[in-house]
Amino acid sequence: MSGLDAFAGEREVASPADMEALGRRIGAALGAGDLVVLTGPLGAGKTTLTRGIGAGLGIRGPVQSPTFVLARTHPSLVGGPALVHVDAYRLGSPAELDDLDIDLAHAAVIVEWGRGMVDGLVDRWWEIEIERGWSGTGLDTACGTAGPHAAEMEDAAPRTVRITPRP
Ligand SMILES: Nc1ncnc2c1ncn2[C@@H]1O[C@H](COP(=O)(O)OP(=O)(O)OP(=O)(O)O)[C@@H](O)[C@H]1O
Ligand SMILES: [Mg+2]
Repeated sequence: MSGLDAFAGEREVASPADMEALGRRIGAALGAGDLVVLTGPLGAGKTTLTRGIGAGLGIRGPVQSPTFVLARTHPSLVGGPALVHVDAYRLGSPAELDDLDIDLAHAAVIVEWGRGMVDGLVDRWWEIEIERGWSGTGLDTACGTAGPHAAEMEDAAPRTVRITPRP
């Protein structure tokens, strides 16, 4: 067992605070050479989770949604590995990810939207997938329950987090 193997499986995460707490535990388990591919729709909680991971690793923040920067390196404040936070959304191929020359061996790496981009780059990695669940109110946003309240309820809905060792 190493890295995130102990976290493999699916869990419900009820709140942003719980998401951050899960991230802290994950961050504390990550070491140099570990790579995580993180996917989930807009507003799923990717940045919230990554913030927790950063806190667990003891890196210098702030962790942000990687909008303008392809890869941001957060150095460790505790003598551990840096966190490299990659946005693979606008990368066209694994070769472009390779071109970023990330120090994979010495950093803990989170690749947002990196599915299908890391095969061949590393021997093993973990996929973390966040799904936005139902609000539990019985309201179905597909059936015209628009408006600020419906949006709020959906925003606060529990997330499903699935962690899978790869390949
Ligand atoms: N159970 C939950 N887990 C995580 N975040 C939640 C949860 N419930 C509500 N939220 C809220 O969802 C919002 C979106 O979170 P976050 O910014 O981390 O998502 P994201 O996946 O990074 O979005 P983007 O794709 O826009 O970068 C935040 O306001 C967060 O507080
Ligand atoms: Mg984000």
